[in-house]
Amino acid sequence: MSRISLLLSSSSSSSSRIYYSFSSLASLLLLLLFQLIVLPKPKIHAQCFDYNPLNFRDRTPVVCPWVKNESPSLQKREIDSKNMLQITFTCGINDQEKCNKVQRAFTTAGGIITATLMLHVPILVNATFLNFCDAKSSVVVNTGPAGSCGGSNVGSLTIGGAAPTRTIPMQDEDGKERLYPQSLVKQFNFTKHRAYAGFDITAQFNAIADFWFDDDSYPIGPNQADFLRLILHELMHGLGFISSWDDYLNRTPQALTPELNPDPVDFQFKFIEYAFDQYMVIIPQSEKASAYTDIQNSFADRVRFAFNTLEGFTAAFFQSPEYQSAKKMFQFGITPKNLGFLPKGNSEVVLLETSLNPYQLGSSISHVDFETYGGTSDFLMRYSQDPGVSLQDAILMGGNYSGGPIGPKLRLILETLG
Ligand SMILES: *[C@@H]1O[C@H](CO)[C@@H](O)[C@H](O)[C@H]1NC(C)=O
Ligand SMILES: *[C@@H]1O[C@H](CO)[C@@H](O)[C@H](O)[C@H]1NC(C)=O
Ligand SMILES: *[C@@H]1O[C@H](CO)[C@@H](O)[C@H](O)[C@H]1NC(C)=O
Ligand SMILES: [Zn+2]
Repeated sequence: MSRISLLLSSSSSSSSRIYYSFSSLASLLLLLLFQLIVLPKPKIHAQCFDYNPLNFRDRTPVVCPWVKNESPSLQKREIDSKNMLQITFTCGINDQEKCNKVQRAFTTAGGIITATLMLHVPILVNATFLNFCDAKSSVVVNTGPAGSCGGSNVGSLTIGGAAPTRTIPMQDEDGKERLYPQSLVKQFNFTKHRAYAGFDITAQFNAIADFWFDDDSYPIGPNQADFLRLILHELMHGLGFISSWDDYLNRTPQALTPELNPDPVDFQFKFIEYAFDQYMVIIPQSEKASAYTDIQNSFADRVRFAFNTLEGFTAAFFQSPEYQSAKKMFQFGITPKNLGFLPKGNSEVVLLETSLNPYQLGSSISHVDFETYGGTSDFLMRYSQDPGVSLQDAILMGGNYSGGPIGPKLRLILETLG
């Protein structure tokens, strides 16, 4: 989930890195929400959200009524399969050899994920590889902010991203409703569940980026990104390694809240976390991040039915005492080692990325701490990868972990989620 930018600094290309970020446009989000709340109330309530893989903050509410599980025969057929990642691949370039390499990388990623995670139900991935900058592309791409195609004096190129196709609200053990990626919801094997989208994860990668593939006959070049490493990282986001905490309200990030959405029933605003956030902790306070969500939702409850527009709600929130909790959360979000993920049944916190200052939408928080996990077996979910370092190199530098690229801490996190 995430728009990944390949930021190439022209002055010092040797220190350039490949960054993963959501790069959301606050204004776009405001527009989106505004459009939502001026719509007349529909008869059937939207309950789920579908996402743009290149910008996870760009979401669309969708109707997802309760449905019965698919026929057991279909389930059985799927469970029998060896590769639990079923890729529907569209290659939008005229280079069959490269298309084959991309497809093989997805198959390899599927093998790694199948071998590592206890999946009950296969994960369906809609993967597209195409030139984002080619207007004649057969597949229409939701282009991200300016710079997606690079350009002579634009240092940023969107190299791709993956996101849960849909998130679905679920009631957690603590009684709170959180948004779960569809891929996780499927693993719970409910007989009755909300309607699923046709795919679990949507992935798009830009053919114009300089990727290196395992089966290339030459070693990785100094400016190349290992494609397998990139898609594994992105698929982890698609499987639920993603926090909702971000700034949905200000143009320049300065306050953090969970996703702010109108309630599907009465269109009043409320903050809603993702599955991941149930396990987020504020380290200096030995407190759950959800305690801050509660404070913020106590404001939402207090002003329930008072505002019909996002602008009205936001303006009142800025003036409220509860807004201080969002400001405080922002401070944790830019202070090293302040936020972490506490896996179930574990006492050791996995440090999240809170060292970026200024705060980076999408890179901050939804990754592991860059410094702590560099050169360790848990390198995969750092927010950027050094170009010229292949997945195998990174595994060796991390101590040649026998479990491969999905390190022990990342496993704990994924196990905790589902
Ligand atoms: C899922 O549920 C069905 C019945 O609804 C059952 O037959 C099947 O074994 C379950 N699969 C798993 C992996 O729990
Ligand atoms: C797969 O995703 C692309 C966008 O990445 C979309 O245009 C296409 O319609 C999707 N395919 C299906 C079958 O949903
Ligand atoms: C890394 O570990 C694998 C087994 O997991 C082993 O076969 C290989 O020789 C090791 N490589 C190095 C450089 O230690
Ligand atoms: Zn990422």
